[in-house]
Formats: sequence, structure tokens, C-alpha cells
Amino acid sequence: MKKYAYRNIITIDGPAGSGKSTVAKILARDLDMKYLDTGAMYRAITLIALENNIELEDEKSILAAASGVKLEIDQVASSENSYTKVFINDRDVAESIRSPEVGSAVSIVSRLPGIRRYLVSMQRKIAGEGNAILEGRDTGSVVYPDAVLKIFLTASISERVKRRKLQLEEKNQEVKLGHIKEEIKKRDFIDSNRKDSPLVIPGDGIKLDTSDMPIFEVVNKIKQLYYDRTKTKI
Ligand code: DC
Repeated sequence: MKKYAYRNIITIDGPAGSGKSTVAKILARDLDMKYLDTGAMYRAITLIALENNIELEDEKSILAAASGVKLEIDQVASSENSYTKVFINDRDVAESIRSPEVGSAVSIVSRLPGIRRYLVSMQRKIAGEGNAILEGRDTGSVVYPDAVLKIFLTASISERVKRRKLQLEEKNQEVKLGHIKEEIKKRDFIDSNRKDSPLVIPGDGIKLDTSDMPIFEVVNKIKQLYYDRTKTKI
């Protein structure tokens, strides 16, 4: 019988707007697991680069600036509608890492192999031996390929644009649908085509299209898969 190395790790990857964050937070709360929003980490590093006026391709300087600060990320899933809390030297940056400036720069910074190595090692340290849900683009393919359950969430582009618009409206940000669509398509392209750790469905990952699935249904489906796996394969 196959024995998984990381029995209590669930990874949830997928493109922007696929429902990862909402689903991962509910699961972490219901299953009493740690929650790790890896995208928030790439955003925080990007904010550090922007605030220090560092060239977005200058990996060495970004790494030097990043290792000189205290970066903290909340590992408890609070409300599924609120952003993950992130602190840089005790400063709350949860809102600033979601700014349009960071949004368009993050795909460039997250392409850099040294930045990825740095954050992947931090992610493994935080998730440790298990009991964690990781959410991102490469958490099943690179960070924990031995996770007991690897989910790849996706949804149609029109549905993802609609969700992103709603999210922005909740934060009182008004952005045109066409603009959101362009941003999402650009980010999808860069994330899926970069050399190092592109967005892919992990080998034995399970793909779920959430276009027509309400959140509770997605959550229940993943819970069922998790229970089946841990019962039958360990
Ligand atoms: O999930 P998000 O939109 O907050 O992620 C922001 C960006 O970070 C995303 O466009 C690509 C990058 N990212 C990544 O390269 N690897 C991850 N594991 C998570 C995010």
C-alpha cells in the first residue's frame, strides 16, 4: 500500500480567480489545519522590491533586501472574505500587497529562481511536518509533491473575471471588466510559461473546474477526497 510522506498536507493550486483562497481558508478552518497563502509571500517580496526602488529583475538585490526584514504571515485562516495578514517589520501590509502596482509586478519577481528557492524553503519550514493547507501556483508540483492530496482548481476566464470584479468592489475599488480580463490573462500567461515552477497540474493532482460549482460544493468534494485518501491509502 502506498504510504504518503506528508499525510496531512493538502495543496491547492490554480490561476487567479479560481477560488483557491476562499476554499483553502474554509478547509483549514473546518479541518483544523494551518493555512499558508504562498501568493501573499510572493506579493510581500514584490512590495519590498518596489519600496526599495529595486529593478524587478535584480534578484540579488531583492534577496538582500528581503533577508534584511522580518517577514511574518498569518497561518490561521480568518474570515474567507478577508486578506491574509502579512507583516513586514511589524508593519501591516495586507492591503498594500494587493495594490494594482504589486499585482502587475508580482509575476515578474516570482519568475526569479533565487526568489522561488528562498520562499519555497520558508514555506516548507512553516508547513513543517504537516497539518497544513498550502495555496498557490506550485505548492503541489514543487513545494510538497508528496502531499496526500493535490488539488488544481480552475474556472472559465469569464467567471474568474466576474469573481475578481466582485472582490475589488467589496474593497470599494472600481475597475472595468475589460481591464481585469487583460490583467488576468497577462498573469496567467506569465505564470504558466515561466521556466522555473510554472503553473501546472501536478502529476497525480485532481483538477476541479469551479465555474458552475458553489463554494460549499467544492469544499465538500475536497473534504471527501481527503477523507477517502487518508482512510484508504495510509
Ligand atoms: O495567488 P496570488 O494572486 O496572490 O499570487 C500572486 C502571484 O504570485 C501570482 O501571479 C504568481 C505568484 N505565485 C507564484 O509564482 N507561486 C506561488 N506558489 C504563489 C504565487
